[in-house]
Amino acid sequence: MRSKLVVGNWKMNGNLASNQTLLKSLIPLLASVTHARCAVCVPYPYLAQTEQILRGQGVSWGAQDVCEYEHGAFTGGVSAGMVADFGCRFVIVGHSERRALFGDTDAVVAKKFAAVLKAGLTPILCVGETLAERESGVMEQVIARQMDAVIALSGVAGLGQTVMAYEPVWAIGTGKTATPDEAQAVHAFIRERVAELDVRAGDGLPILYGGSVKASNAAQLFAMADIDGGLIGGAALVAEEFAAICKAA
Ligand code: PGA
Repeated sequence: MRSKLVVGNWKMNGNLASNQTLLKSLIPLLASVTHARCAVCVPYPYLAQTEQILRGQGVSWGAQDVCEYEHGAFTGGVSAGMVADFGCRFVIVGHSERRALFGDTDAVVAKKFAAVLKAGLTPILCVGETLAERESGVMEQVIARQMDAVIALSGVAGLGQTVMAYEPVWAIGTGKTATPDEAQAVHAFIRERVAELDVRAGDGLPILYGGSVKASNAAQLFAMADIDGGLIGGAALVAEEFAAICKAA
């Protein structure tokens, strides 16, 4: 059986003082969550602070993106090896905000994914369609294209050792959530696509749902057969709310 995983994506939020309060509040709240793994993905400058507070506390941490290159003349870039120095376990790659706002193409996302694997960390590969893509009936094609770029570069076995997140773009930060059935249908599609190439990889792949997950809707989403947890944005910034989501997993 796949174990459940709940990951908070803080996005570009927080500061030293508020992070300290949030992380210190999470530790006792998450102490009773033994049936699910929990993690937070924080902005780069706060990885050291997060490591210092969370090390040994049973909560993992990670980064929200990395540069596709290992080192060199890439001003402003942060490599997977650099974030690994701060005890990260996870790195989100291909988040829709990176794709839409920062121009990460499928090919760039595939390179970032490979760079994270090479550094010994676990990529969380985000895929998902816009509302226009869903309504015009190309949702599955879009998700397949996003997955295939990664599979072409890292192989399906590589994907099988990582985490995927289905994040319908229309549900991110909008308060709109895919219904459990809508999400389950896409999760099943993703798993099937991997399983067609490698049954074990498909079976073992944790697929998180992301897009306006809250304490009030988490349990219904997490009860679906192919939903293995969540990638949580806004609700991850409130300790009690994030802990309640982790408890629902
Ligand atoms: P949201 O964000 O929970 O605020 O909708 C999810 C995400 O972007 O990972």
